[in-house]
Parts: sequence; C-alpha cells; structure tokens
Amino acid sequence: MLEVRAARHGDAPALDALGAAPEAGVFVLEKNGAVIGALTLRAGEIFGCAVAPEWRGRGYGTFLLRRALRAAGPGPVYTQTPPGNAAMEALLRRCGFRPQEQALPAAGEEPARAREAGAAAGPLSLPQKWVRGAPDGDGENALAVAHAFLRTHVRPGAFALDATAGNGHDTLFLCRLVGAAGRVLAFDVQPQAVENTNARLRENGCGQVGRAVLDSHANLAAYAAPGSVDAAVFNLGYLPGGDHGVFTTPGVSVPAMRTALELLRPGGVMTVCVYYGGPQGMAEKDAVLAFLTGLPPEGYRVSVRDFSGRPGCPPIPVCIEKRAW
Ligand SMILES: C[S@@+](CC[C@H](N)C(=O)[O-])C[C@H]1O[C@@H](n2cnc3c(N)ncnc32)[C@H](O)[C@@H]1O
Repeated sequence: MLEVRAARHGDAPALDALGAAPEAGVFVLEKNGAVIGALTLRAGEIFGCAVAPEWRGRGYGTFLLRRALRAAGPGPVYTQTPPGNAAMEALLRRCGFRPQEQALPAAGEEPARAREAGAAAGPLSLPQKWVRGAPDGDGENALAVAHAFLRTHVRPGAFALDATAGNGHDTLFLCRLVGAAGRVLAFDVQPQAVENTNARLRENGCGQVGRAVLDSHANLAAYAAPGSVDAAVFNLGYLPGGDHGVFTTPGVSVPAMRTALELLRPGGVMTVCVYYGGPQGMAEKDAVLAFLTGLPPEGYRVSVRDFSGRPGCPPIPVCIEKRAW
C-alpha cells in the first residue's frame, strides 16, 4: 500500500532520518505504514526531496513528486539542484521540469548561495534552477520576475514588508514564503486596499502571519528597525479595481525605497514593479529607475528587466540585493 500525504506531527523521527525538516508543505511517501520518502513543496517551490536509501532507484521519487505536484494544484513550480546531482535532475525531467537559463556571476564575484552551501567558488558551483508548468519564456513579465527572485531569497521565518498592499496578492505571496514562523507587514493609504488585503490573508489562513495597516510607505521606519527586514516589495501604480485617482508618486515612493533599503539586513532583498501607464507614471518610472540604477554597486546588486519591445507600457521589474559580502 503506497500513499502520499501531508506530513503529520508523528512523522518527525522519520523526517529526521530522511534529512527533512518537519515544516509546512512537507509531503511524505508511506509504504505499508512506513515513511520512506519526503518532499517539501511550498509556495510553488520544491525545497527538498528524499527517498530512503534502500528504496532508491525504483521509481518511488517519481511517484512522490508526481503526487505532490498534483496535490499542490495548478501554477508553476520552481526548484534548484546542487551541481552534479544527476539523479535529481533526471527525476525533475521525468516530471516535466526544464532547466532555466541563469546568468553566471561576474568575474571575481562569488555566488552567495554556493558560498553559503560551502561549495567551491566559481561558475561550476552554481545551483541549477528548474521550472515546471510555466509558459515558455517564463519570467517574461514583471510580477513573475519579481516573484521568482523573492522565491529564491526569502526563507521561512523571514520578516517582510509589502509597501503597496493593494488587493493583497503580493502580501499573501510573501506570507506563504515566510510561513508560520515569519511575519509580513503591508501598507496602503486606501482603507479598501487594507480591508481587501486583510480579508485575503484571513481567507487563506495567513491572518496570523501577515497584516495590512492603513499607513503610507512614507512611514516604514516607524515599523521596523534598521537591518531587521529580510525582504521589501513595492508594486507601484494604482489599486486594480479600485480608485484610479490614488496612486503611488515618486516624491513619496523613492524616499520610501531609500528607507526600505536601510531597513534591509545585509543579504536582504527588495523588488520594485514599476507600472507607469497611469497619471504621473512616466515621472515615477524615471525617478525610480534613476534612483535604483544609481545605487552604489559595492552596496547593492541591482537588476532591471526591460520588456520595452512589447506594446503599451509593460511593467518593469527591478530586483535588488543588499550585499552581505
Ligand atoms: C499596484 S497597487 C498594488 C497591488 C498589490 N501589490 C496587489 O498585490 O494587489 C498600488 C497600491 O499602492 C497604494 N499606494 C499609493 N500610495 C501609497 C503610499 N504612499 N503608501 C502605501 N501605499 C500606497 C495604492 O493605494 C495601491 O493600492
């Protein structure tokens, strides 16, 4: 009898034996009452997959991954493999994952993740990123780029700020990334946005993790100590489906981004999605891009994706990492 199910409290010793942490999003593979495999799939990312050594090479990993993907529902799923893990790479390919192209670090620049993992420095030590269920050219819009970046950097237990709550989609996304041990604080100047966000969090079981407050992102510093924040998110423009007369403005958003960067811990990240189709949008786009691309490279790593070949005003994602090295 083979079953894939969500991990329970009593699975902790078996998970420990498999090298898996008893945390949110863990699926276990049970064979005749014994846990022989575990896989963590949370917020669209697989964080680990293990099968007990005596059961490897018999298709149990594929079975576990396929069932976990089915249980997780629709939407793209991402993961990373350390260099040289041929078995895991083959498993991912069998289950429909494809490798994502990724930039190699600039000469002399050691990839932080590889260094954290204790791997040798240099391009070959980079983990390989994988994606499944996303259209070709995944990441080809601002939100997907920002979310993929956050997914890679924000860990369970993190403290995150959503500077523009809106309808709460990003706040909920952050709550899922930080998990039950984390905290997310969201800001909006519109009562409707605050209500929408808090309702969304409650409906999705994240009311204990995240909270939206009716306040401007001009006041971020009143809510967090410098160096205490792991991630900050700005999604500029107006509230979709709400009052289009209320929108972010460069006189407020740019100083707020400066503050958010001061609040980030070293190694913390910030994403900014610049929507510039609305009133003052062009002025805000110019001011925000000038500020972010002008950040000192010794302090921040900034990447801007340009979708200017597309019709209309395609939003621009900017991903910033505050250097810890
Ligand atoms: C594009 S929407 C954000 C969308 C949101 N991230 C979501 O997931 O639905 C921008 C939001 O910024 C809000 N906003 C405008 N000025 C603000 C300010 N000074 N402080 C905080 N929020 C502000 C607007 O009210 C609007 O809801």
